[in-house]
Amino acid sequence: MTLKKVDNIVWHETTIKKEERNKQKGHKSTILWFTGLSGAGKSTLANALEHHLFQKGLSSYVLDGDNIRHGLNKGLGFSDKDRKENIRRIGEVAKLFVDSGTIVCTAFISPFKEDRQLVRKLVDEEEFIEVYVRCSLSECESRDPKGLYKKARSGEIKDFTGISSPYEEPEFPEITIDSDLLSIEESVAQIIQYLQAKQIIS
Ligand code: PPS
Repeated sequence: MTLKKVDNIVWHETTIKKEERNKQKGHKSTILWFTGLSGAGKSTLANALEHHLFQKGLSSYVLDGDNIRHGLNKGLGFSDKDRKENIRRIGEVAKLFVDSGTIVCTAFISPFKEDRQLVRKLVDEEEFIEVYVRCSLSECESRDPKGLYKKARSGEIKDFTGISSPYEEPEFPEITIDSDLLSIEESVAQIIQYLQAKQIIS
């Protein structure tokens, strides 16, 4: 990597390289970027996948929208500007996880194509796997696990994705999971198959 100099801040190369970490762990590190409407099943799926990876002894971690907004991104709301900043920060954090040799599963609505694209560009091409958790708005609304759609319809919550704020569907996601058709086990199997085919895990 070339040295980057930004306003008197100089990039320090780390002694241990990502490639060495990956070699030691026996798998490649990558970002599995789960995107989709609220209630589509992003967190459930990311956690189920991580459980599977963990059982196999692989190094993995889940970054989840609701949780990150309790800490790192506390104070960010749901305006377009705040969502953009939310995703920008998570992208940088996810990049650090990749550098640490981890398979990081991120579960954020990440409604804007442009923001997802910016994260994609932060890492090497094969290190960003967009997983579109596809589920119709009507199905998400009928699930309404947190009662948020009801509040959004009544106007109690503003800027709610799918109701009063847009969701831009991925055009070319590496993986699409139809969460209203597949079971969690089937969905996890589909992702594992992809990771094996790409030789990210064995
Ligand atoms: S974003 O759009 O990527 O910045 O959103 P994210 O950080 O993933 O946070 C989504 C979770 O926040 C809850 N929530 C809302 N979602 C969408 N719109 C509005 N206005 C909103 N207010 C609160 C909701 O629980 C989302 O969690 P998931 O898991 O997606 O249901």
